[in-house]
Amino acid sequence: MIPHHIAIVMDGNGRWAKRRFLPRVAGHKKGVDALRACVRRCGDIGVRVLTVFAFSSENWNRPPDEVSGLMELLALALAREVPQLQAEGVRIRFIGNRSALSDKVRAGLEQAEALTAGNQRLLFNVCFNYGGRWDIAQAAASLAARGEPITEHSLDRAMSLADVPDPDLLIRTGGEMRISNFLLWQAAYSELYFSDRLWPDFDAAALDE
Ligand code: IPE
Ligand code: IPE
Ligand code: MG
Repeated sequence: MIPHHIAIVMDGNGRWAKRRFLPRVAGHKKGVDALRACVRRCGDIGVRVLTVFAFSSENWNRPPDEVSGLMELLALALAREVPQLQAEGVRIRFIGNRSALSDKVRAGLEQAEALTAGNQRLLFNVCFNYGGRWDIAQAAASLAARGEPITEHSLDRAMSLADVPDPDLLIRTGGEMRISNFLLWQAAYSELYFSDRLWPDFDAAALDE
């Protein structure tokens, strides 16, 4: 059976680069290639929702040149990839705290979302400056601000991704067996699959497997 919603922690870019004596950002660039292939494959096999972890709330603690490299890569990838997403019927959406992002990056996200908003083949959620704890806290804060009672049901509705079913399958590449503050609430019943493959090496065949 094809999962309706797949979530992925795309880990291992840095190690992929290190093994080749390349800077870490080279691994992230290669990771974009792997992600493009994965999005395409998900659309082709009938997955309806793909949610990926691209930048965590904790990733700000990385060296400044890696953080700025990732921000530049996001802007570049958006400019380069969005026309193709549009052609393939993919709706892209960003999940996470946008207030810490630069105006340029934020404008790029908003443009990509607006352009692809009508697409229905695959919903592609990119978690960027996202953390599962942030998500639970922002949901609770928004209910409190509206003076609404905090229950399991109301929190569920206020969480990001409230409009899609929870992930059926959560994949983490790169060999680490942990969640690293990804979809803490939404993955309560997801099947977990850990792959030793580094993210840049994760291709359509690996996804099928
Ligand atoms: C995951 O790869 C991508 C991001 C966190 C942005 P890493 O950069 O964590 O790669 P490793 O874990 O160091 O190999
Ligand atoms: C998780 O990977 C975050 C992303 C893939 C964006 P990390 O490499 O940041 O997580 P830890 O540090 O191994 O827990
Ligand atoms: Mg890592």
